[in-house]
Amino acid sequence: MVGLGPKPPPSRKGTGSFVDVPKDLLKEIKRLEKLFTVDTAKLKQITDHFVNELEKGLSKEGGTIPMNPTWVMSFPTGHETGTFLALDMGGTNLRVCQITLTEQKSEFDIIQSKYRMPEELKTGVAEDLWEYIAECLLQFIQTHHGDVSKLDKIPLGFTFSYPATQNYIDEGILQRWTKGFDIDGVEGRNVVPMFEKALQERGVPIKLTALINDTTGTLIASAYTDTKMKIGCIFGTGCNAAYMEDCGSIPKLEHLNLPPDTPMAINCEWGAFDNEHKVLLRTPYDELIDNDSPRPGQQAFEKMIAGLYLGEIFRLIMVDLHDNRDVNIFAGQDIGKLRRPYTLDSSFLSAIEDDPFENLSETRELFQNQLGIDPNSSELELIRRAAELIGTRAARLSACGVAAISKKKGYKECHVGADGSVFNKYPHFKKRGAAALREILDWPAKADPDDDDPIEILAAEDGSGVGAALIAALTLERVKKGNMHGILHPKNFQ
Ligand code: BGC
Repeated sequence: MVGLGPKPPPSRKGTGSFVDVPKDLLKEIKRLEKLFTVDTAKLKQITDHFVNELEKGLSKEGGTIPMNPTWVMSFPTGHETGTFLALDMGGTNLRVCQITLTEQKSEFDIIQSKYRMPEELKTGVAEDLWEYIAECLLQFIQTHHGDVSKLDKIPLGFTFSYPATQNYIDEGILQRWTKGFDIDGVEGRNVVPMFEKALQERGVPIKLTALINDTTGTLIASAYTDTKMKIGCIFGTGCNAAYMEDCGSIPKLEHLNLPPDTPMAINCEWGAFDNEHKVLLRTPYDELIDNDSPRPGQQAFEKMIAGLYLGEIFRLIMVDLHDNRDVNIFAGQDIGKLRRPYTLDSSFLSAIEDDPFENLSETRELFQNQLGIDPNSSELELIRRAAELIGTRAARLSACGVAAISKKKGYKECHVGADGSVFNKYPHFKKRGAAALREILDWPAKADPDDDDPIEILAAEDGSGVGAALIAALTLERVKKGNMHGILHPKNFQ
């Protein structure tokens, strides 16, 4: 066809010039910039408050951040061995893996199957959830091991990525559902017996050796291959971190008289940071998200950072600018699709931020194809800027959590293992987070741009697979050596 050459080469980097943007739209862009920008002073203030809140969570009185002890009591050496099953109930998918930690240091083999978590299960009844999970496990074992009636029980690490109180490693009392889950009859109860009942009913040959949070799994899996790893983070559907504390610095465990220098991994559950709204500057859009969520008042920090919410914040801005503001964007167009809550996930924002073209033609196509809206060129500039603001705020705020743990522990240099869709796929998330960390911790400018930062946030090893297997292995090993702390059912560890 004549005249239809290849697309122009990718060129666009960051914000456009806005020279042609009409005044009223420009005013809205400025308003959004003011709402969403977190400057260095604010980052530092948030971090300092964060350090105090981490301490409070470990105190006897407790605080807003749960700081859950996990009974993971050592880092791996790299010499762990054995074959384990791992089940990952994260938020979006269900994954079952079989991991073999091999004789070769820090090496493993893995086979895995993914199952989509049906949307209706997330807000359904508890029995259906456990039945679905047990069925997936049964299918996996039958495929890889054959007739289940002939099998000995296989040890399993269950990655249950929700805040859970663990008096024992093989127990998890759900504190509250997060990430849009809302299943009756589970909060306040130990999920392990419910899970085991469903397994028993189907004759699934499994013994649960550890209930794990994805952040703890990430920490341990990353430390398996990199001894500088001190913190494990998830920036995905939800957001959270884990790190290794000394029992002597956990006043709420004082009554157990554990040796003060014994390590204990803490699942921070930092998504709950600042539920009191003391330091985080929430926008009207954050407030709307919170009010309309199944758990208003909970997970204030998470709701500004995690993948589940980024697209929704953006959607709320767009609807507001169409309905309520003088600019009346997308005037005269049907925005019915855009009105549907949670219709845009964070990959929609990623695609906007990834649009390489000066005229934002890919963004325009995205709006046309997914929402039936045809934005004009000025509206496209506003769309791009809104996405940048939301993505940048998320990355900068997440750095406050990493800085807070590092400050609390006195880590001047270390590696942080991070996983999750936002960390791995959202454009510039890593770079923006690293820049914020530099501002918070006052690092001098790099002599060479290729130099490492003192604290580097790096892509983690597979926490809910390899991490879960390692934790199961470490737990079996310590029980063998007679360390029975935090073990509820010793018979499962023989
Ligand atoms: C959960 C955490 C989890 C995080 C990342 C949060 O909503 O409360 O337990 O680690 O999501 O998956």
